[in-house]
Amino acid sequence: MPAITEADALYFAVRSRKDPWLSSNDSNQRIVSGMRPTGRLHLGHLHGVLNNWVQLQHEYECFFFVADYHALTTNYEESETIDQYSYDTVVDWLAAGVNPGAATVFVQSKVPEHAELHLMLSMITPLAWLERVPSYKDQQQKLHDRDLATFGFLGYPLLQAADILIYRSGRVPVGADQVAHVELTREIARRFNHVYGREPGFEEQAVAAVKKMGKKAARLYSDLRREYQERGDAEALERARALLAEQQNLSIGDTERLFGYLEGSGRIILPEPQSMLTAQSKMPGLDGEKMSKSYNNTIGLREEPWVVEEKVRTMQTDPARVRRNDPGDPTQCPVFALHEVYSADEVKQWAIEGCKSAGIGCVDCKKPLIDAINSEQDIIRQRAQQFVEDPDLVHAVIAEGSEKARAVARETMEEVKDAVGIGGR
Ligand code: TRP
Ligand code: SF4
Repeated sequence: MPAITEADALYFAVRSRKDPWLSSNDSNQRIVSGMRPTGRLHLGHLHGVLNNWVQLQHEYECFFFVADYHALTTNYEESETIDQYSYDTVVDWLAAGVNPGAATVFVQSKVPEHAELHLMLSMITPLAWLERVPSYKDQQQKLHDRDLATFGFLGYPLLQAADILIYRSGRVPVGADQVAHVELTREIARRFNHVYGREPGFEEQAVAAVKKMGKKAARLYSDLRREYQERGDAEALERARALLAEQQNLSIGDTERLFGYLEGSGRIILPEPQSMLTAQSKMPGLDGEKMSKSYNNTIGLREEPWVVEEKVRTMQTDPARVRRNDPGDPTQCPVFALHEVYSADEVKQWAIEGCKSAGIGCVDCKKPLIDAINSEQDIIRQRAQQFVEDPDLVHAVIAEGSEKARAVARETMEEVKDAVGIGGR
């Protein structure tokens, strides 16, 4: 039987954690995600994004923020609504179960380091990288009622890169439309590390840092590094990273050096994040199209019960089902699309059979749906209650979250400035 090496033991120890690779204070454990303030949220947000966040907040160190500067890049002429929308957005998050005790909840403009890092990164960002981000031309073509020929709008994805890198977060839960932005973020981080991670005497400092790990870990690190560099063994690279993340005796600077030394580059000051693709929300709207404010087919996250009832009651059904006695086809019906989201198999079966045989009417069919949506909303309305009654509570959540976020952001900013060589004494 082959002996289990120390590397194997470590490999399994690390693997068996919640998060397969890294320890709790490292970037792979950290998540950042933002949402632009667009007013009150709807069930599309709940099923697409918020339920996912609520899950993640218990598994990762989460930073969730309202991207109010991003709203300004496309809506600078309607800036008067942004603060109210940001506030409403936070209330909706809290109502959906985002817990400020578990996640850091804040507003982007209250953490000026986002803007500061954006500025620093803008210095090393080639114009062409921004011009070729797909959303740049897409949005300019789609939103022709707006002035998007601004420096701010061109910088939209760079600001997003700053949002992510300021927390040195390893993972970014986003929808498919945002993957290109995370990809750009990776390129920017790589460029930054390349330009500013190269310090004089890097090799010597790295070698000295290896020794500080202690004999065993140092040997393991060197072996894994060699395996990666000589044979391109990606698993060795992962194991070496896991090993580094475990080290408690290294300064941040030395840790960065050793992450960089693994790959032969300079220090890694800003780690490259990865997108965590959120399953595309299948949430259909009242008309069967994707639920979206711009299609005017939404059910709000905190809707009055009678409004939910009214909205569902007046929904279009299978157009072939004109009279009560006409059989229908659930696949042609937006009501059934909602059953797919809300109903248990028995209810769905009941609807399919009753519809096809004209055994039930559409009013009957809608009834359990109204109940299901309203009981989901009951919990949300209940959670919202205390915040609606006491707006100061919401402001306190935002203020506290923003302070917590700032403390982390400041640290990154200090290291960034230090690496660039600006603002020191
Ligand atoms: N651009 C994102 C959107 O439109 C919002 C956003 C801003 C964001 N900054 C971010 C998302 C950082 C993830 C991480 O949905
Ligand atoms: Fe749609 Fe239900 Fe009416 Fe069939 S019975 S058409 S599925 S609402």
